[in-house]
Amino acid sequence: MAIIQDKVAIVTGGSRGIGAAISRELAKNGVKVVLNYNSNSEAADKMVAEINELGVEAYAVQADVSKSEDAKKLIEAAVERFGQVDILVNNAGITRDSTFKKLSEEDWRQVIDVNLNSVYNTTSAALPFLTEAEAGRIINISSIIGQFGGFGQTNYAAAKAGLIGFTKSLALETAKTNLTVNAICPGYIGTEMVAAIPEKVLDGLKAKIPQKRLGKPEEIAKGVVFLCKDGDYITGQQLNINGGIYM
Ligand code: CAA
Repeated sequence: MAIIQDKVAIVTGGSRGIGAAISRELAKNGVKVVLNYNSNSEAADKMVAEINELGVEAYAVQADVSKSEDAKKLIEAAVERFGQVDILVNNAGITRDSTFKKLSEEDWRQVIDVNLNSVYNTTSAALPFLTEAEAGRIINISSIIGQFGGFGQTNYAAAKAGLIGFTKSLALETAKTNLTVNAICPGYIGTEMVAAIPEKVLDGLKAKIPQKRLGKPEEIAKGVVFLCKDGDYITGQQLNINGGIYM
């Protein structure tokens, strides 16, 4: 079991939705959090204040992780502030849902850039620190959509499936180090992203979930903490947290 108290985590898109829950849950376990955000500084500041109230250090860093220069700056800022990076949670993600026939090239590229190319950007900059860490962790937040597809989501599904292949390959390449690389595949979780699904479609989706409810962001965050604490011998895996909708 790894002791995670005082370790340093970077959570991309860490101020809202699942990312906020991950930042909070890591902080509850004494992990110092570098909370990355792109545009909403207010949400990031609020999250930092909430973590500080727990007596834990947190630091908000603006960076558009789809840009390699910004991702480098994020990792540098974390190292400058805390001297190390132990945990990288690649969580930043967007949807631009549209049936493929209507999907613009811009919406294709933007989703691939933010959800997949960002992971190249952050991981390549952080890898030297993560492989030096006592028990390094990369956790990529993928999705069931990367496993079973999604109507109107060719762009998002391609990016999320890409994350799974990336996870397995990097896990192989780093298995001889103390770094583990895993993906978490959330099902439909109660966040703003899911709230944007048209009501009729969402009702249909909920009916298909064997546990008959949306997941909670903290249920994904607890998976992250589990992998960080107890995941020494878990690498290259997909942790499915989805109420049974995909088995
Ligand atoms: N399965 C089958 N058919 C579907 C469908 C589905 N899930 N969703 C829509 N359709 C059908 C509609 O019933 C409609 O059929 P008819 O023409 O026969 O009536 C047709 O597709 C067109 O639907 P819309 O009128 O909604 O068309 P649109 O172009 O306005 O919108 C859409 C299409 C963008 C796909 C819209 O339906 C939509 O937003 N759907 C939800 C997509 C979704 O599930 N997103 C998940 C976001 S959450 C997430 O991604 C997080 C995660 O990791 C799980």
